[in-house]
Amino acid sequence: MLVVGGAGYIGSHAARLLRKEGFDVVIYDNLSTGYASLVHGFELVQGDIADSERLSGVMRRVTAVMHFAAHAYVGESVENPRKYFRNNVECGLLLLNAAIDAGVGHFISSSTCAVYGLPNTVPIPESTTRQPVNPYGVSKLFFEQALESYGRAYGLRFASLRYFNAAGADEGGETGECHIPETHLIPLALQAAAGTGDKLQIFGGDYAGLETLPHSWPITVTRRSFSSGGRPGPCTKSFQPPGTGCGIVKLRLVSVPLRKDLRQN
Ligand SMILES: NC(=O)c1ccc[n+]([C@@H]2O[C@H](COP(=O)([O-])OP(=O)(O)OC[C@H]3O[C@@H](n4cnc5c(N)ncnc54)[C@H](O)[C@@H]3O)[C@@H](O)[C@H]2O)c1
Repeated sequence: MLVVGGAGYIGSHAARLLRKEGFDVVIYDNLSTGYASLVHGFELVQGDIADSERLSGVMRRVTAVMHFAAHAYVGESVENPRKYFRNNVECGLLLLNAAIDAGVGHFISSSTCAVYGLPNTVPIPESTTRQPVNPYGVSKLFFEQALESYGRAYGLRFASLRYFNAAGADEGGETGECHIPETHLIPLALQAAAGTGDKLQIFGGDYAGLETLPHSWPITVTRRSFSSGGRPGPCTKSFQPPGTGCGIVKLRLVSVPLRKDLRQN
């Protein structure tokens, strides 16, 4: 299994869980926002997804790809859409083509709830029309649609995972969230509460804010996407995340009292 972007926050969790379940994992990452410390104990191929030659050598060694390598700041995507379309779309397609050219039949992609834009209903049903309202969401929707086309044309089996603010550390405390700058709600709320960060600002009153992921999600998704025994078929799928089904709104999240030991430290 090739975990692309496996030195980043979500990818490093996925890599650990896949290894725990017995998958042979190779990580491919350019370390632009990821950390070498998160790939200790794994084989790291350091490279950019735009580097088709480097990718093709790695692709020949794997049967499936999990793709987490992208730029993911909504605000930045509005200021500099070119950066987002370059990495998330142009380079994403080079990665996808390298997988197809090497005969890789399974592709799981980290998409986002941002493909839905401003939904009328919360929780958002998976069938909600995808109408992103920022370049980040547009770039992710484009990649979802490319996967759908490749699924139809080349029999690629794929899954696109659309999640909200992922949060938390792994059970052993080995890896956690470390985005610079941090824009996600939970770390910002904890930093504000601990006095190590700025005051938390919430815009709006009742936006859906958080989806909690169970520890087993990469495995569940991998099994679902492989469920026809690896045969290519019509069973390609975009689905909303593998969450626990108990998303909560931002205002409720910040009303959770901090544990005494966290307050003191
Ligand atoms: N963090 C969230 O709450 C969240 C929510 C929804 C969707 N996502 C999506 O999940 C994915 C991972 O997010 P994250 O929070 O772990 O981000 P992250 O920045 O921690 O991880 C991204 C990893 O990809 C690598 N990378 C980026 N561009 C690359 C390139 N061109 N070539 C090789 N490696 C490259 C980075 O070095 C980094 O290790 C992204 O696709 C993001 O859009 C994240």
